[in-house]
Amino acid sequence: MQLKGVRGAPDLLPQESARWQRVEATTRSLLQRYGYAEIRTPVFERTELFVRGIGEGTDIVEKEMYTFTDQGEVNLTLRPEGTAPVVRAYLEHQMATQFPFVKVYYLGPMFRRERPQSGRYRQFHQIGVEAIGSHQPAVDAEVIDLLWALMVEELRIPDLQLRLNSIGDAACRPTIRDRLLRYMADRSSGLCHDCQGRLTRNPLRIMDCKQAGCQSLVAEAPKPIESLCEACAAHFAEVRSLLDILKIPYTIDDRLVRGLEYYTKTAFEVINPRLGAQNALAGGGRFDGLIEAMGGPSTPGIGFAVGLERVMASLPSASDEGALHGVYVATIGREAQRIGMGLLQELRRRGMRGLMDLEARSLKGQMRQANKERVRYCVILGEDELRQGQVMLRDMVKADQGSVALEQIVEHLVGLEAVCEREHGTP
Ligand code: HAM
Repeated sequence: MQLKGVRGAPDLLPQESARWQRVEATTRSLLQRYGYAEIRTPVFERTELFVRGIGEGTDIVEKEMYTFTDQGEVNLTLRPEGTAPVVRAYLEHQMATQFPFVKVYYLGPMFRRERPQSGRYRQFHQIGVEAIGSHQPAVDAEVIDLLWALMVEELRIPDLQLRLNSIGDAACRPTIRDRLLRYMADRSSGLCHDCQGRLTRNPLRIMDCKQAGCQSLVAEAPKPIESLCEACAAHFAEVRSLLDILKIPYTIDDRLVRGLEYYTKTAFEVINPRLGAQNALAGGGRFDGLIEAMGGPSTPGIGFAVGLERVMASLPSASDEGALHGVYVATIGREAQRIGMGLLQELRRRGMRGLMDLEARSLKGQMRQANKERVRYCVILGEDELRQGQVMLRDMVKADQGSVALEQIVEHLVGLEAVCEREHGTP
């Protein structure tokens, strides 16, 4: 019987991977310009890290983690997100002693046992950043500016919305919670089954429940932003004013609370309204209490993560397959194939993308293949030409061709590609 992949854990096929690589390269280059360095943590960690970091009352910890016992000894979990692992590594490697302010990014698969649907997977990919060590509202503004620059300026995703909220900190959270619980006390029968449970475990999460009954109750409920302490209100006002200076358009979403418990103060999401139910492309916020909760010294932090599958679904459809580039070496006859292999080896060593047929296809079949591979040039090695030390060079964009001396063809092609690069950027 033929085995199938696991539902919610899609394959990335070769015809799609070039687009992913372009998005990843664009993102890495931008992150580097903002002063972030890459960190790679393992895909599994001790389960306790996520229970303590993300919070026991969250959907992720309650029902979405892939947890297993390693040979009956240690309880491990496939990472459902990247912030808790980064904080673990930050403390374990005493990063603060080297740099008081740490800026890192990560890119890789995350695992959550959610119900698979369009835009929601059990293995998905995030690019995330964490800036650890500063309370300054300017850091919030810079992090949000980075996210907006990535989505709008670099990836050019149209019609995005940036939603912003403040959900208070250790000083005002008890008041925020109490006011919400008091409001819900004689209305709780109108809440959905999940929110009934949230009342005791994680009441703030009721704010962003999608069920109609809960939404209408929440509409009138006291919002976190109305009960901020003085320090949180001042922080939020400064973040807003800096975003105005940076000309980042945002809307205040007073129901935005995020699904992980570590958030404090600023919380934000980037939404693509065209995507349907799973429309959050990225989310993040401050986590000023997390490092202390993980056993470290009291240290503030802020970050976000972008969901790559949702970004890919938001990019204008596969119209841009990239410019034609590289060379296809077509050969007629056994001797030509031998010479062609040597030529190809040299072209590749000189940095060119080079392809040829090793299956002894007809010339017509080879040209078909060359078209499919979207090469810019085709070098044709025929028996007659070779006898005269010549090859045929075809420019697939200009659709013209001419002969070039065999011994000059490599130099000639390398020169042509350099011109192409100068004119159009990287091939
Ligand atoms: P999150 O909101 O849970 O935040 O995830 C961030 C993004 O990952 C979401 O906006 C979404 O695009 C994508 N995502 C989440 N779950 C799925 C899924 N099942 N399928 C496809 N995409 C998904 C965090 O993970 C935080 N660690 C972000 C952060 C970093 N906060 C501070 N620093």
